[in-house]
Amino acid sequence: MKIAIMTLFPEMVDGILAESILGRAQKNGLLEIRSYNIRDYTLDKHRHVDDYCYSGGAGMLMQAEPIWRCYQQVLADFGIEDQEGMDGVPVKVLYMSPQGEVFRQSTAVELSEEECLIFLCGHYEGVDERALELLHARPVSIGDYVLTGGEMPACIMIDAIARLIPGVLGNSESPVGESFTDGLLEHPQYTRPEEFMGLRVPDILLSGDHKKIEQWKLEASLARTKERRPELYEEYLATHKLPKKTKLPE
Ligand code: ADE
Repeated sequence: MKIAIMTLFPEMVDGILAESILGRAQKNGLLEIRSYNIRDYTLDKHRHVDDYCYSGGAGMLMQAEPIWRCYQQVLADFGIEDQEGMDGVPVKVLYMSPQGEVFRQSTAVELSEEECLIFLCGHYEGVDERALELLHARPVSIGDYVLTGGEMPACIMIDAIARLIPGVLGNSESPVGESFTDGLLEHPQYTRPEEFMGLRVPDILLSGDHKKIEQWKLEASLARTKERRPELYEEYLATHKLPKKTKLPE
């Protein structure tokens, strides 16, 4: 997968994305991530990227032209002649915004199937609407709170998306069975020793009875999800058939 990040602060994303599992994936050629500094695509000698809002108010807005020119460079680097390139499929542009749809695991799964993605990070009061229109940008939010810019949301989304690309995680890091993949939070987990500070690993997990362990895991997931995320629990019950012997949480 090729990922481009259009930002005024490339240093904010470069360091984070070069480390750990995503760094390894880039070295292995599974992933290519490149940041673009929108300021490099200004035409005026002071390299201005923002201006006052026509609708008034104190805030500054990012101008459309540097974003548009930066986008043209990204398309050229992706080898896409125009927006309808890539075998007729337009390349997806995600605009980091608290006004967007909330990013979920299902969004990460959907986007992990793309060949190319572009992340547009806003700053100041936002971005001239015409830039968003021209780029067919899809606004996406990481949650109902407001940050100073889109760089951290972009890193969060890229991490969640890239780890789903086959080969990015090693076998021991597999996403199968983790929280959200099937709509429930993951059950509690334990490693050695069997007892620590008077707290014991649940007996069933030491029994070696794999069927019972599977049933325990399901029931522990249901209990945790009901307690922490009741809305996910209700959705799960409405859409899944549970084994007859399942004891539902109180
Ligand atoms: N930019 C500012 N706040 C944001 C949020 N919650 N999600 C995505 N981008 C943002």
